[in-house]
Amino acid sequence: RKPVSLPRLHEMHARGEKITMLTAYDATFAATADAAGVECVLVGDSLGMVCQGLSSTVGVSLETMRYHVESVTRGIRRVQGTAWVIGDLPFGSYHESKEQALRSATVLMQAGAHMVKLEGGGWTTETTRFLVERGIPVCAHLGLTPQTVHALGGYRVQGRGEAGETLKRHALELQDAGAALLVLEMTPAALSAEITQAMPRCATIGIGAGIDCAGQVLVLHDMLGMNLGKMPKFVHNFMADAGSVRGAMEAFVKAVKDGRFPVNEQHAW
Ligand code: KIV
Ligand code: NA
Repeated sequence: RKPVSLPRLHEMHARGEKITMLTAYDATFAATADAAGVECVLVGDSLGMVCQGLSSTVGVSLETMRYHVESVTRGIRRVQGTAWVIGDLPFGSYHESKEQALRSATVLMQAGAHMVKLEGGGWTTETTRFLVERGIPVCAHLGLTPQTVHALGGYRVQGRGEAGETLKRHALELQDAGAALLVLEMTPAALSAEITQAMPRCATIGIGAGIDCAGQVLVLHDMLGMNLGKMPKFVHNFMADAGSVRGAMEAFVKAVKDGRFPVNEQHAW
């Protein structure tokens, strides 16, 4: 197997093969996801909730992200894995200026990430272009952006009605700025489909965003049926019918590739 690369992700997108992504925060789970055929491993700042027991991702530091990106990339390297590793830029680490974003992205890239992810639209366009021009692949993130939960008023569906137009405009701007991937979180299925159609150069990765995205992502612990809070409606427990974590991950990959996950009743928004 050849390492997953940006050209390979673009090529999968062009061909219509669904891209699979799972979060991982440590060496063993990351290596297992890689072995199960997951193309993209996201070291998400959801680790604040999953690993650190925080009530939101707002409290996650860049140093913590660096630690987990290092663990994940070591794990994948140890099994001679091929996964594309994405590191989340945490709250406050890219908000001040594009120069600050570059410094923060450098920390995660030097820890082994292949790409960084940042949340938000509009004000993030310039930052995205700045990073991409300097050789740092960028994954954007629109819809429910958990770092802004306090401004959004909770974990709820985004982009309904007129807000959908703004969201679509932000997506197109991010594609123009060179973002190669775009996570769409809790956006209406029809809007996600429209955005996906309009973006040949940027692959949408949905989470609670309907079936018609270019790929799908889930939080690892959620898809294994382990969640300290309320399980989001869009999650499927892949562990329930699998004999092992590896089996659950393989079932996820297969279901996404075959277009069997998500089923639209799981999020009728
Ligand atoms: O941090 C995370 O796990 C994420 C995914 C939900 C996309 O950003
Ligand atoms: Na995140």
